[in-house]
Amino acid sequence: MQNMKRPETMERITTPALAKAFIEEQVAAIKAQVGDKKVLLALSGGVDSSVVAALLIKAIGKNLVCVHVNHGLLRKGEPEQVIQVFRHEMDANLVYVDAVDRFLDKLAGVADPEQKRKIIGAEFIRVFEEEARKQEGIAFLAQGTIYPDILESKGVKAHHNVGGLPDDLQFDLVEPVKFLYKDEVRVVGTALGLPANMVYRQPFPGPGLGVRCVGAITRDRLEALREADAIVREEIGKLPTVPWQYFCAIPDFQSTGIKYVNGQGERYMGWAVIIRAVNTVDAVTATVPEIPFSVLCTIRDRIVSTVPGVNRVLWDISEKPVATIEWE
Ligand code: XMP
Repeated sequence: MQNMKRPETMERITTPALAKAFIEEQVAAIKAQVGDKKVLLALSGGVDSSVVAALLIKAIGKNLVCVHVNHGLLRKGEPEQVIQVFRHEMDANLVYVDAVDRFLDKLAGVADPEQKRKIIGAEFIRVFEEEARKQEGIAFLAQGTIYPDILESKGVKAHHNVGGLPDDLQFDLVEPVKFLYKDEVRVVGTALGLPANMVYRQPFPGPGLGVRCVGAITRDRLEALREADAIVREEIGKLPTVPWQYFCAIPDFQSTGIKYVNGQGERYMGWAVIIRAVNTVDAVTATVPEIPFSVLCTIRDRIVSTVPGVNRVLWDISEKPVATIEWE
C-alpha cells in the first residue's frame, strides 16, 4: 500500500533552489524504483504529465516511453509543441498517435455531453492500451497524480473520465509529483526547463474542445472553434492580468450574416463563437472579469475576418452558478 499522505516535514517548493533539490531527490528515487526497466506514460502536454515526463527523462532517458494521443480535440499547436519539446528538445522516446479520425468518427452524430465524455474517455483508454501492448518490457506506469487529486478524488486524477487499463496491464505506479500542489509542480517544471506556456497553461478539460463544440461535433465547426480559440487565447493572454480560464465555445446553430460579392450584399448562414473568461479559486464558483472593450473588438475583427464560417462573436458574461464554466 503506497503512502498517500504528504509528509508533514515536507517544505513547500517555492524557489528554484528548492525545486532543484526536489528534482535531485526524485531522480534518485525513480532510479532506485525502476532500475533498468521501462516505464510508460500517457503524455497529454498538460502541466502534470509534462513535469512527470521531464523528471523521468532526466532519471531514465529512453527507458521512459511517452505516448501522446492526438484525439483531435486538442487546442491549436498543442500536439506540435509536445513533439517539439519532448522529441526534439529533450530527445525523449515519444510515440505520437494520430487518432483524430478514430475519435471524430466515434463522436459523429452524438449530441449528449455526458455521452461525448464517455466516448472520448473510453476511446482514449483503448488507444493507450493498444500502444501499451505494442511496447515490450514495460514494468511501470507513470502518472501525473498531484496532491489535490489524492485529497479530492482518492488518487484518481479529477475529471479524467478514462476508466482504467485492463487487469493484465496493471503496472506498478511511478508518481513522482503526487505530494505536490499545482503551484509547486509549476516551479519544478520551470526548473526542469519546460517552456512557460506549458508550465503556466490554463486548466483544460480532458475531453478538450469536445465539450466546447456544443452538440454533435462536426469537423468544420471544430476547426472553426480551434482557430477562434487560438485568437481568444492570444489576445486575452496579452492582458497584464490574465483570467483563470479563457477560451471559446461554438454552439450548434447558425444565424444570418451578410457578405459582399462584387459590391452586392448577400445573406448567408454562419456560426457564432462565444468568448468565455472566468476567475475562480476552486472552479466551484466563478466570476467574470472585465475584458477591455478594445480587446473584445480586436478578437471580433480577427475572428470574423480569418475564421471560415463564423459571422458572429458573442461574449458570455454568465457567472457560476447559475451557469457552469464550460458550455457542456
Ligand atoms: P464546470 O463546467 O463544471 O467546470 O463549471 C469546472 C472546471 O472543470 C473543468 N471541466 C473538466 N475537466 N474533464 C476535465 O478534465 C471534464 O469532463 C471537465 N468538465 C469541466 C472545466 O474546464 C473547469 O475548469
